[in-house]
Amino acid sequence: MSSKPRIAILGGTGDLGSGLARCWAAAGYDVVIGSRSAEKAQDAAKQLGGGVRGDGNAEAAQAADIVVVAVPFASHESTLRDVKDAVQGKIVVDAVVPLVPPKVATVQLPKEGSAAQIAQALLGDGVRVVSAFHNVGATKLHSGDRANCDVLVFGDDKDARAAVIELANAVATRGIDGGVLANSAAAEALTSVLIGINRRYKVPGAGISITGLS
Ligand SMILES: NC(=O)c1ccc[n+]([C@@H]2O[C@H](COP(=O)([O-])OP(=O)(O)OC[C@H]3O[C@@H](n4cnc5c(N)ncnc54)[C@H](OP(=O)(O)O)[C@@H]3O)[C@@H](O)[C@H]2O)c1
Repeated sequence: MSSKPRIAILGGTGDLGSGLARCWAAAGYDVVIGSRSAEKAQDAAKQLGGGVRGDGNAEAAQAADIVVVAVPFASHESTLRDVKDAVQGKIVVDAVVPLVPPKVATVQLPKEGSAAQIAQALLGDGVRVVSAFHNVGATKLHSGDRANCDVLVFGDDKDARAAVIELANAVATRGIDGGVLANSAAAEALTSVLIGINRRYKVPGAGISITGLS
């Protein structure tokens, strides 16, 4: 049996989720993408290939060791509520950025501090929420190579952060320990800055690289 965790991606039919699924499957992970419609997930999984499976969000979450949330901010809370029971005792990786259309290139963090803190409060202490992948443009994950950027990883549990850094290492240049979950606000805010940079410099996927590390 593989020692790699089984990964579920809620909203895995979307741009970010399907890109992560593609990269993790290529790296040898067992991946199931979730959707509000199991049939839609199965169709999307077939398109992705690489052994990726599809199911309803709750069923996918139930079957996985690590559950990634990749849905729009407007459906963040309802999606988390739907899987709350299924994710108890697990690591939930929140990639959701609290964008408020139409001004997505303007930082608009929620009053709770960050999407990640909303997730932790909603799911409770039985779930280790880690946040990551906010600054990885989905197009880079669909390029066929690992994304050429660093991934900041936040969470209040060091072991859970380490597990997600390993997942980030499989899809991007490297995962970097960003510290406690409250720090997720920095990466969530940075996404709006990167969206603005993409527009002003006419590029598809500006990203970040941390200097000074060996
Ligand atoms: N795209 C990027 O480059 C990128 C990069 C970093 C972070 N993010 C963040 O990652 C998250 C997903 O981004 P995305 O671009 O992949 O989004 P997306 O393609 O618009 O949506 C992802 C999936 O979310 C589900 N969804 C959409 N509306 C929903 C609703 N009202 N209720 C429940 N589920 C709904 C859909 O899945 P089903 O219809 O199959 O249920 C959809 O395929 C966002 O929070 C975004 O800010 C995105």
